[in-house]
Amino acid sequence: MTSRPSIPIFSVSDGLNLEVEALEFYQGLSQPQASIASKYFYSTLGSRLFDTITLLDEYYPCRTEKLIFNRSEDSLRVHLPQKALFIDLGAGDCAKASPLLATFKSFAYLAIDISVTHLSRALRVVIQDNPGVKVAGLGCDFSTRLTLPAEVQQWLTANQANYSPRIVFYPGSSIGNFSPNNALSLLKQVHAICAEGGNGSGLLIGVDRVKELAVLQAAYDDSLGVTAAFNRSMLAHVNERFATNFSPNNWSHQAFFNASQSRIEMHLKSTDQQLVSWPGGERLFAPGQTIHTENSYKWEPGSFARLLADAGFSQVEHFTDPQGWFSLFWARA
Ligand code: AVJ
Repeated sequence: MTSRPSIPIFSVSDGLNLEVEALEFYQGLSQPQASIASKYFYSTLGSRLFDTITLLDEYYPCRTEKLIFNRSEDSLRVHLPQKALFIDLGAGDCAKASPLLATFKSFAYLAIDISVTHLSRALRVVIQDNPGVKVAGLGCDFSTRLTLPAEVQQWLTANQANYSPRIVFYPGSSIGNFSPNNALSLLKQVHAICAEGGNGSGLLIGVDRVKELAVLQAAYDDSLGVTAAFNRSMLAHVNERFATNFSPNNWSHQAFFNASQSRIEMHLKSTDQQLVSWPGGERLFAPGQTIHTENSYKWEPGSFARLLADAGFSQVEHFTDPQGWFSLFWARA
């Protein structure tokens, strides 16, 4: 056996224990318009299904973002700082960030994700592919709050990364899950983290754009039904986590563009009248009644650039693809 370097994995519990989470969850189910937070998509099965979605012809965001990276690489190299501390929001398997560490000669990498369980394995691969880069993981549900805990600050100090510029990386249009108000408050917190890195620091963020309806619709209601399976898989996950008794078979996938809010909405629609119960509560769903499971906001580049400015960023560079389907922004702190 070869000895493996131990990888520091930190976590923020934020007082969000299972009990508080469960109460929030039951409350969401009990509202006139029932809802389940999108973060509950990402069980082991749900994460695999999402990875599969990204392979679909109809799901353009990830491959379009990759295309923008490829065609803009020279320009990115000019604008982004070298030898920065690279902070990855929603790192997942770290596959998007890992090749960029070499591109920007980053010497330290902090991967932040809601699910800590896979971080150490993912980071081991990052080290293999980028020998010499210092890595650490942080488990944190930043949908509610994003701050770097003291242990992480200590790790940065110990690795002399506290006085180097910072690149915060938030790809894949994950910001689309946030309402404009919540997106603004997250971006302000990201700005504060960038600002601590001083000169040259900034945010590299991928944002999906408003486009032709048919393209949007197909991306969230694909012909193979993978997105439908992804949506319904959430019910199996919450059954396990919160002891509900959903029958995923009795719920159908629904996705549509809400033009007035500029967002794709995903819902699960009850196929029958059915009672859903959980410890201490229940709800009767009528046929056709829905549970709102996701918002995926689509932005015009100008509006998103204004949002970045409102969050405190200045000098925003914008990169896009030939069809104008997706945006990549480099926003200096
Ligand atoms: C991971 C939030 C970027 O909104 O496109 C994909 C999630 N939902 N298909 C998106 C998702 C349905 C995805 N984000």
